[in-house]
Amino acid sequence: MTAIQISNVEKRYKSLQALGGVSLSIEEGEFFGLLGPNGAGKTTLISIIAGLIRPDAGKVTIHGHDVTGDFRAARKKLGVVPQELVFDPFFTVRETLRLQSGYFGLPNNDAWIDEVMHNLDLTNKADVNMRALSGGMKRRVLVAQALVHKPPVIVLDEPTAGVDVELRQTLWKFISRLNREGHTVVLTTHYLEEAQAMCKRVAMLKSGKVVALDTMASLIRRISGSQLTVNLAAGDLPQDMRHLVTHPEQSEHGKKYSLRVNEYAEVETLLARLRESGAVIDEMQLQQADLEDIFLQIMDKGTV
Ligand SMILES: Nc1ncnc2c1ncn2[C@@H]1O[C@H](COP(=O)(O)OP(=O)(O)OP(=O)(O)O)[C@@H](O)[C@H]1O
Ligand SMILES: [Mg+2]
Repeated sequence: MTAIQISNVEKRYKSLQALGGVSLSIEEGEFFGLLGPNGAGKTTLISIIAGLIRPDAGKVTIHGHDVTGDFRAARKKLGVVPQELVFDPFFTVRETLRLQSGYFGLPNNDAWIDEVMHNLDLTNKADVNMRALSGGMKRRVLVAQALVHKPPVIVLDEPTAGVDVELRQTLWKFISRLNREGHTVVLTTHYLEEAQAMCKRVAMLKSGKVVALDTMASLIRRISGSQLTVNLAAGDLPQDMRHLVTHPEQSEHGKKYSLRVNEYAEVETLLARLRESGAVIDEMQLQQADLEDIFLQIMDKGTV
């Protein structure tokens, strides 16, 4: 079954086209990444999925329920961790979670609430008022709140922003478990190494449009080989090597160049060419291509 069906969604804020016709189909049980730079439209799309804002055109269904026409049924299937922290500061963690549970018509939900708090390392904060929590702890409560009604579809908008390493690992362990148990997960994050580790399929948004949609494995395969980064103490990159540069923005700040390398044997040739041209290398590094390289190339050139 399709977990989330997004068809030709458009959203405009005055003259700004936040979403320019987005279509995506996310299947039940997927771990899906929604990536894109600041302002790409990720949160706008998530707010439309959550029924918080209305699209100007297009349609979204969750497990077949239309998010505007059949809001309550759609909302029950969905748990959203919002990007912004919003709470009633006077409730404790447990009260906040019980209230949310009540909203979904689940008054006797303490066993699951306890399990969620335990898995997010919130048990010792259960009776603390929300306003007395640190930023990272508040974010954990947001995650707990989204999971309180055991929704089959979980959407996380930057769940790890400002969260320490230990909790990130705890959080990913719990979310992975839920995904293994059949929950669909949609994740937005700027930590691309997290996306690379967790998501099986990815959509990249740029200026409100889907510019890439593929499995993580085939996206990574699109950039074969590695990249050689050199920092030049003297001289400069010869003109005929400029087409190999993968991160043009780096070279604008001084003489640091990342060059695409298809095979290790090419490294020798490149270094020899640099030496011949009179360039002196200060520092160098050879790295495997990763999701970040692909992301930057897609955002820069629209393709890899
Ligand atoms: N309520 C609003 N009124 C006017 N413009 C808005 C509103 N909400 C969002 N926008 C604009 O719509 C565009 C998309 O914003 P959105 O929050 O969806 O981006 P995002 O991909 O989530 O970015 P980030 O990675 O920074 O969270 C931006 O240009 C933003 O300024
Ligand atoms: Mg956002």
